[in-house]
Amino acid sequence: MRASGSGVWAVLVAAGRGERFGDDRPKAFANLGGRPLLAESLERLEASDWVEALVVVAPPEWEEPSILLAEEIGAGKVHAAVTGGATRADSVRAGLAEVPDEAAVVVVHDAARPLLPEDVLERVVTGLGDGWDGAVPALPLADTVKRADGDAVAETVDRTALYVTQTPQAFLAESLRRALAGEREATDCAGLVEAAGGRIRLVEGDRRLVKVTTPADLDFVELLLRAAAG
Ligand code: CTP
Ligand code: MG
Repeated sequence: MRASGSGVWAVLVAAGRGERFGDDRPKAFANLGGRPLLAESLERLEASDWVEALVVVAPPEWEEPSILLAEEIGAGKVHAAVTGGATRADSVRAGLAEVPDEAAVVVVHDAARPLLPEDVLERVVTGLGDGWDGAVPALPLADTVKRADGDAVAETVDRTALYVTQTPQAFLAESLRRALAGEREATDCAGLVEAAGGRIRLVEGDRRLVKVTTPADLDFVELLLRAAAG
């Protein structure tokens, strides 16, 4: 599948405030190796063979810097930078509104996960079809999981069927639009599609897709980036 005419659009959500990160600027504009965090995922989506075009969802008043950043890194696939909403689902809704009806597949990605491998994009996009509404990267839990009551362990949870999920998440455009039509909220898009009765498939995720939540996560991502650069 070639990027041009692939019918795959990406929505890159970067509109969060980054409360837990605690900087004065939005988390997507935190400094990662001398560039805004957002630059990393933007560049990787731009370079992807699986993505035809993309929409950046920016924090209020950061639309212009987002467009300038896209121009700076030569991200010609960026169709628009729109203003995000109060919740992640609202931000996805705002981005999806810019995706044309002809797009068959929408990939939603968190700017907070800068290290986006091309093969994960391939797995989520090619994971669709056969009646699946969505395909999401997942990793089995490596650690032992406890349910707690305050600081006391209530029980050890059987982890065999438990996974953590990441982004990018790919959806049939119409399934995602239907799921977002209501007022539902969830911490990821797959949760919204599940709640609307959609079938979500798990594909193999990647440990490098860590989500930057705190400054320590950003330090870790910077280490991974430097290691990859040799
Ligand atoms: N996001 C968004 N719009 C929102 C909330 C979140 O576009 N209203 C995006 C973030 O920019 C991020 C992704 O969704 O790329 C995952 O959200 P999270 O890591 O929780 O980021 P923040 O909401 O910014 O962080 P916090 O919850 O600590 O405030
Ligand atoms: Mg958040």
